Amino acid sequence: ETKVEKIEKTQMNMDIINAAGQILKQGGLVAFPTETVYGLGANALDEEAARKTYAAKGRPSDNPLIVHIASLEDLYPITKKVPEKAVALAEKFWPGPLTMIFEKSELVPHGTTGGLETVAVRMPDNEVALALIRAGGGYVSGPSANKSGRPSPTMARHVLDDLEGRIDMILDGGPVHIGVESTIVDMTVEPPMILRPGAVTKEMLEETVGEVTVDHTILTADAKTPPKAPGMKYRHYAPRAEMTVVEGPLEKVVDKIGELAAARENEGHRVGIIATQETMGRYDHENVKCIGTREDESTVAANLYAILREFDDDGTEYIYSEAFASDGIGSAVMNRLLKAAGHHVINV
Ligand code: TXA
Ligand code: MG
Repeated sequence: ETKVEKIEKTQMNMDIINAAGQILKQGGLVAFPTETVYGLGANALDEEAARKTYAAKGRPSDNPLIVHIASLEDLYPITKKVPEKAVALAEKFWPGPLTMIFEKSELVPHGTTGGLETVAVRMPDNEVALALIRAGGGYVSGPSANKSGRPSPTMARHVLDDLEGRIDMILDGGPVHIGVESTIVDMTVEPPMILRPGAVTKEMLEETVGEVTVDHTILTADAKTPPKAPGMKYRHYAPRAEMTVVEGPLEKVVDKIGELAAARENEGHRVGIIATQETMGRYDHENVKCIGTREDESTVAANLYAILREFDDDGTEYIYSEAFASDGIGSAVMNRLLKAAGHHVINV
């Protein structure tokens, strides 16, 4: 039985937070809101709790978890060394959508790190999350609270849809703000390397610590990569439909999507289109969803996963999406879109 508790950031019910903290201390699972996506909380120092986390998500146990902390001093006991640059980044971006990777100390079990000698750590910018971490003993592992392979949850309803009956409690703090997962930076290499793009961009990191590199696998997810057949191993954020991203000048993109959608519709398939405020009126199709405005791509980030889930629920078989700019938060959006599409891109 999964208990759902509504919780207000401004008037936090500490009885609920303490009950949730108690569940974590006893090795149970509590989903909680963060500013990025909902997390599936467990005691990060408890190997058995990590095992339960993997089982609930259906996630391979070699995929490591992020340890969430509520104060900077709590970073030191779980790491071997904290480079100066990491301190500078923590002071600048924590609490916030930045995860850093360090060499782990003995305190962190291999169950949490997927067998690695490193540990990923982040301090989320959400009062409910911070209160839960404190109540739960200070170290809460938090993968996104979705079933493995499903889009990350951006509201409590999504968590319930995926994990009802598999976890003890969901703290419902309303919809998240950002909508894509945190930026991950490996601080064990010099210069630091971005492993996953998020709301904290390369430019923002470089302003604080100078040169930062980007992992090759993110570069291959760049919008300019030639089209590839969808490969299952890339579809980490996959909707059930076959998805195609169309990029190029906006006019041509709209025409091409219209053409592709019409062809599938004529074959009798259920088709979904991901459009923007700027292009909504241009499509003459049944199932067109507005993902946000091109003038502020953070709106696109905020709606992305909910829209992919809606298409799943509609039984959509083919999704066609416009592409977005690959700078700022747009690079995180494109990274997730391309993964959802199995890197299936058409250039017009
Ligand atoms: O925004 C977020 O980061 C959310 C919220 C809940 O905080 N969490 C999240 O966790 O996205 P998850 O488990 O869905 O993604 C964690 C990613 C995985 O791709 C994992 O492989 C990587 O972080 N990761 C964790 N520890 C790592 C390590 N030691 N070395 C390299 N990658 C690591
Ligand atoms: Mg995830």
